[in-house]
Amino acid sequence: MHAMTAENLRSAYGGESQAHMRYRIWGDKADKDGFPTVGRLFRATSEAEEVHATLHFKALKDEKGDFSVTAGAGFGLGTTSENLQGAINGEMFEVEQMYPAYIAVAEMQDEKTALSAMRFAIEAEKVHANLFTKAKEAVDKGKDLEADEVLLCPVCGFVTITGEEDNCPICKAKKEIFKKF
Ligand SMILES: [Fe+2]
Ligand SMILES: [Fe+2]
Repeated sequence: MHAMTAENLRSAYGGESQAHMRYRIWGDKADKDGFPTVGRLFRATSEAEEVHATLHFKALKDEKGDFSVTAGAGFGLGTTSENLQGAINGEMFEVEQMYPAYIAVAEMQDEKTALSAMRFAIEAEKVHANLFTKAKEAVDKGKDLEADEVLLCPVCGFVTITGEEDNCPICKAKKEIFKKF
């Protein structure tokens, strides 16, 4: 693998791994604040970030060794509204800056495995940003998120709160394999 794509993937792996942890912590806080469905959304999305980190790690399977990994990662444990804003900011950074830049490099370098991992991630992050925005609108009115189901596609990290999709709109996996939160 080309050095720049490998470094970008390691950074994306670091960012996704930390988002995975951060959303677990913020999910517990949402439960404590009386927003259990927001808690479920955080936990489903936490697992989505784990899916992305795993895809990136596997794409790097032949790049063995120890590395220092620099990755953007939000910190702070605030109110659930503040935590949701932190989540939206992180998702939008990935959607608007990080993944478009990394994907452009991987395209130039014709790194197909890296591209498929990062394309799943950027499409899922767009959905995450929308759902966190919906959740914040509810929480800012003092309400919990309304959701029929909170479901995760374990292949690509897509999350839905309607469950009306028969297939994952990103990776085409069947709804039967979606994981419920
Ligand atoms: Fe995300
Ligand atoms: Fe999917």
